[in-house]
Formats: sequence, C-alpha cells, structure tokens
Amino acid sequence: MKKRILTWLQATSDQLHIGNYFGSIKSMLDLSNEFEDAEIFLFTAIMHTYTWIHDWNVLKTNVMNSLKLFLACGADPNKFIIYNPADIAGHAQLTWVLTCLTIMWTMERMHSYKDALTKWKAWEIWVGTFCYPILMASDILLYDADLVPVWRDQKQHVEYARDIAQKFNNQYWETFKVPGVYIRDEVSVVPWTDGRKMSKSYNNYIWLLDDEKTVLKRVKQIPTSTQTVEESKNPDECNVYKILKLFLNDKENQEIRNRYETGWLSYKEVKDYLYEKIITFLKPIQEKYNQISDKEVLDLLEKNAKIVNEISNKKIEEIYKKIGFKL
Ligand code: ADP
Ligand code: TRP
Repeated sequence: MKKRILTWLQATSDQLHIGNYFGSIKSMLDLSNEFEDAEIFLFTAIMHTYTWIHDWNVLKTNVMNSLKLFLACGADPNKFIIYNPADIAGHAQLTWVLTCLTIMWTMERMHSYKDALTKWKAWEIWVGTFCYPILMASDILLYDADLVPVWRDQKQHVEYARDIAQKFNNQYWETFKVPGVYIRDEVSVVPWTDGRKMSKSYNNYIWLLDDEKTVLKRVKQIPTSTQTVEESKNPDECNVYKILKLFLNDKENQEIRNRYETGWLSYKEVKDYLYEKIITFLKPIQEKYNQISDKEVLDLLEKNAKIVNEISNKKIEEIYKKIGFKL
C-alpha cells in the first residue's frame, strides 16, 4: 500500500508572496519528489479560514486564487490529490464526533486558542477557533494519513490528533491510524530588508503576480551600506544578497560571493541582477496562472471529491456503526 501524506494550502489571502513560495509552496513541491511513491492529499483550508473570515466573496476568491497559484508554481495535479474539504461531508461529521469526545480543558491548552487570546478578548473569539484542532484532527484521521508534515507551530495540534485517535481506538477498537508527525524545520525564513520576515502583515512583500514596475520599485528600495564600489564586501551582510541567494544555483552563488569579496561590485549591478532573477522566476508562474481558468480548478476539485468522498464515507460508516449512530 502506498503511504498517504496529508498537507494543506492556506486560504488566508488571494495572493501569495515570494516568502510563501520559498517557505511553503516549494517545500510542498519538494515533498512530491522526496516521497515519490506516496499518495499526497492536499486540501484547501477553506473550513479553517471560515473560523474568522465570514465574507463569502473573500473566502471564495482566496481559495480559487491560491489553488491557481499553487498549480502555476508547478504542482502536478496527478501527484497531488487536491480537494476541498467542504465537498466532503466527513470532515464536519467526524468533527462533531471528536468534539463530543474531547474535554474543553484540552482545547483551552491549544496554541490556536492561546494565540487568539493574545489578539482578541475571550468574548470576541468564535467557538470555531476554540475547536480548530478538532477539525484538524478530523482532516487527518478521516483518511488514515501516515504522515503529516507540519511546521513546529502545528506540532501540538497533530499531537492532539494522535491522542484522540488512540483514545477512540481504545474505546471503540482499532479504527484510526495514529499519524506520524513530520516537523519541517529546514525551511528558511525569507527576509525583507526591514529586518523582518517577508509578510503580508508587514507590507514588505513581492507578490508572485506583481508586475515588473512594482518589483523594480521594491528592489530599488533595498537599503545598502555606504561602502564604495572598489571595496571588498561581505555578502552575508548585504541586504540584496540575502534575497538574491534564494534564486541562485550553487555555481551562481559562488561566483557572486567571489565578486563581493574581490571588490568592484556595485550595489547597482547587484540590484539589477536581483531584479532580473526575480522577473525570470515570476514570469513563467504568471504566464501559467493566466492560462488556468476557474472551470479547470472546479473540474479538478469535482473529480477529486469523488475519490476522496469514497474513502471518507467508508470511514464515517465504520465510525457511525461503532458509536451507535447507525440504527
Ligand atoms: P504572511 O506572514 O504573509 O501572513 P502566512 O502566515 O499566510 O504569511 O503564511 C503562509 C505560509 O507561508 C506559512 O507556511 C508560512 O510559514 C510561510 N511563510 C510566510 N512568510 C514567509 C517568509 N517570509 N519566509 C518563509 N516562509 C514564509
Ligand atoms: N492548522 C494548519 C495551519 O494553520 C492548517 C491545517 C488544517 C492542517 N488542517 C490540517 C495541517 C491538518 C495539518 C493537518 O497551518
């Protein structure tokens, strides 16, 4: 049997920036190479985003655009089974069952709720946010996922999924596969030159769909030191290099590092190089994005919903029988 890996695509924005690409999209694309023989289930986090975005127009646009961008970045729809959990009744059905088997105190300790408490008052927090890890556990357990690659901030949530699976298995006999957690620590944070990570919250991003003029403006704004052209420079201290290196292969990286160290490399030259690299990177993504229609995405989701629903319905049937919902 093929190993099943479960991953997701955020639906928190209608755009993705270069930081999202290198920190998230690329590592998903790498997954499909790393686990060549595995089956990769990838869902859009629409039900999760609904915990705080209740505007249907925003929600729909976010999901549609992020899926198109994911495909435009080179995701092969034959390698990733991309689906919308809202098309699969099992996510909500299992969430209710697990909600009834989870003590409130367990949710009170979860990062999702604790984070929400740092941003809002308790009376401003939706119950959906409070119970978010239960929905997450359902996303995982419904499909007997073998492996769930997450960043460290999600570790506690996957551990809850493991705990509740074990608890259910003990109470109702073997039903769920206890998923393995795979912590993705190796992802580097894409910086911007204000010393913070590139983020839509800091307004310091380059969107994957930005035009040449906008990219040029961003690159020109990068602050550089007052060192003169002829001086030898340390590339690791240069703001332009910190971003440029993301786009270089080993040979190009070594060459430019040598040029920094030898001297006679102007910041203008290195900024032009960065600009060229970013444009060369963005162009094929943008071309592909413009070719993908809404219908293409909807057809793909519909096709995959059939595959995924079959697995999910079987699981729900088994669970409903065991807990006594099926008369
Ligand atoms: P933002 O900070 O722009 O709001 P999100 O929080 O929506 O981005 O992040 C979506 C995904 O992209 C997450 O997996 C996150 O780790 C990754 N990501 C976001 N910004 C960066 C960055 N600057 N460098 C690396 N990864 C990033
Ligand atoms: N909570 C995850 C995040 O915000 C997204 C997510 C939802 C998820 N369901 C999941 C991750 C199931 C792993 C498994 O980043």
